[in-house]
Amino acid sequence: MTLPTSIALGGSDDIGFGAVIPFYLEVSKERIAIARTADGLFAFDDLCPHDGAPLSSGLLARRAIMCPCDGSLFDLGTGVVLDGPAEMPLRRFIVHEERGTVTLGRQLGD
Ligand code: FES
Repeated sequence: MTLPTSIALGGSDDIGFGAVIPFYLEVSKERIAIARTADGLFAFDDLCPHDGAPLSSGLLARRAIMCPCDGSLFDLGTGVVLDGPAEMPLRRFIVHEERGTVTLGRQLGD
């Protein structure tokens, strides 16, 4: 399902440094995660492309996230699989932060 142009997710204060916060998008019935790193905010599919584990429960290291299930490692900047068993890249989305509000945009690569 295609997301609307943008969706306000919440306040900047809700996503602290080093946090990975899951959001359920009612409009598209999917889970998105937002991570705040030293490189900024990243928005991505919360469900691992390998077997659907919640990446928001994974380990954030710099701008990569490790799946809590089988340990796949994804680069949040590119979506590339850095270490398997996952083979499919991570879906990523545009995310904006302005005046204390975090907004999700379209899927990158669409
Ligand atoms: S569910 Fe994420 S690596 Fe298997």
